[in-house]
Amino acid sequence: MLDPESRPDAFHVAIIMDGNGRWAQRRRRPRTAGHVAGAEAVRRTVEAAPALGITTLTLYAFSADNWKRPRTEVDHLMRLFRSHLHSECGRCVENGVRLNVIGRRDRLPAGLGDTIAAVEYRTRQGDRLHLRIAIDYSARDALVAAAAGMDKDGIPSREGFGAALAKAMNASPGPEDVDLLIRTGGEHRLSDFLLWESAYAELMFLDKAWPDFTAKDLEAAVRVFLARDRRFGGLTSTAGFKPNHSDRAEEAGS
Ligand code: FPP
Repeated sequence: MLDPESRPDAFHVAIIMDGNGRWAQRRRRPRTAGHVAGAEAVRRTVEAAPALGITTLTLYAFSADNWKRPRTEVDHLMRLFRSHLHSECGRCVENGVRLNVIGRRDRLPAGLGDTIAAVEYRTRQGDRLHLRIAIDYSARDALVAAAAGMDKDGIPSREGFGAALAKAMNASPGPEDVDLLIRTGGEHRLSDFLLWESAYAELMFLDKAWPDFTAKDLEAAVRVFLARDRRFGGLTSTAGFKPNHSDRAEEAGS
């Protein structure tokens, strides 16, 4: 367990859950078995997150490019998302987890869209962890949609664009900067995930396949993150977190 003193107040971790298919193939099982095991890893991760100080957890479950996969795999994943949301909803309410799905809704099977709306409504008062699951998500599509939604007569600002971006991917009230982005499965790329929000994210790439990811792995990743030196382009070391304005004032000697 992390020492409560070393836990941050607000902390956004995003995870690219990769390696399900290879995990299954190594066991001579169908790729879908890897996704089922991956859903167990999702449960473990969500359970472990609050005690590590994680306040927002965004999981990449299905990218806009994943529609290119065989129909049987896509159908299996959509059914799995629906059954997982159903089975986890009560536990989310009990544990103060607010669940939102980010991404497009218009291409999802109707039953899944209804389930998402119901789970979002039932968990809306959760204040321990904001769990965001990205389904039919593309950061580049979200950026294009946000640009199209900007007030053409207003003065462009990061805040205004951020609000438009959140609206574009069903993520209100706003996109939250990612502090730590983890990718499992051995690949070293971002795959069109949270490109704007990860501008200053710390990146961590793990060889382990997602179904093998445990609470201990999450804790180890958080410990490495907390030991990292984040300067956000400045000179002040912030040991993991953004300097606040008083830090900057001290640095400037005022
Ligand atoms: C990437 O591994 C994983 C996916 C595209 C699906 C992610 C889904 C889950 C973790 C299951 C359940 C999720 C929820 C939210 C209930 P891959 O299939 O690309 O693996 P590979 O690179 O080894 O082929």
